[in-house]
Amino acid sequence: MKNILLTTLLLGSTLFATDGYEVFKNKCQSCHAEMMTSEYALAHINTLVAPPMVEVSNRLKENIQTTDEEEDVNRYLFILFVKDYIINPNLDNSMCNSGAIEKFGTMPSLKGKINEDEKQAVAEWLYDRYENVKF
Ligand code: HEC
Repeated sequence: MKNILLTTLLLGSTLFATDGYEVFKNKCQSCHAEMMTSEYALAHINTLVAPPMVEVSNRLKENIQTTDEEEDVNRYLFILFVKDYIINPNLDNSMCNSGAIEKFGTMPSLKGKINEDEKQAVAEWLYDRYENVKF
């Protein structure tokens, strides 16, 4: 009986939790590839419509760093930035290099196309997916 209850609880929570990877696949992958080496990206730059996520994640991590090197704080700020950027993308905030911006243009806003839970989940995924995965 206890086991059945536990299983139900576990199943329930995975059913309702928003999966960041699913959000990525549904709402980001049409433009951002999940994985690619920098050599491949350079060689195929003309077929890309946006920087691959492995690059985005690495670049944001390089740029968003607090002096106290507190990992949790950095992760928190990274998530805040991503949640804001996908609703309010603009060149002043972008950390893309100017060549990339010129090539891709600014990302279109996902306002009204993504809810609060999905934003949080995909931002967490973007940070955690590429831990120790360099571009
Ligand atoms: C219609 C195409 C498109 C979709 C869909 C899209 N993006 Fe983008 N995204 C872009 C382009 C183009 C850029 C590069 C230009 C820029 O920085 O605005 C970009 C850049 C970014 C950046 C980098 C900002 C920076 O400063 O370097 C982040 C973060 C990002 N996208 C997250 C997401 C997430 C998360 C999703 C899905 C929820 C998503 N994008 C969906 C086109 C898209």
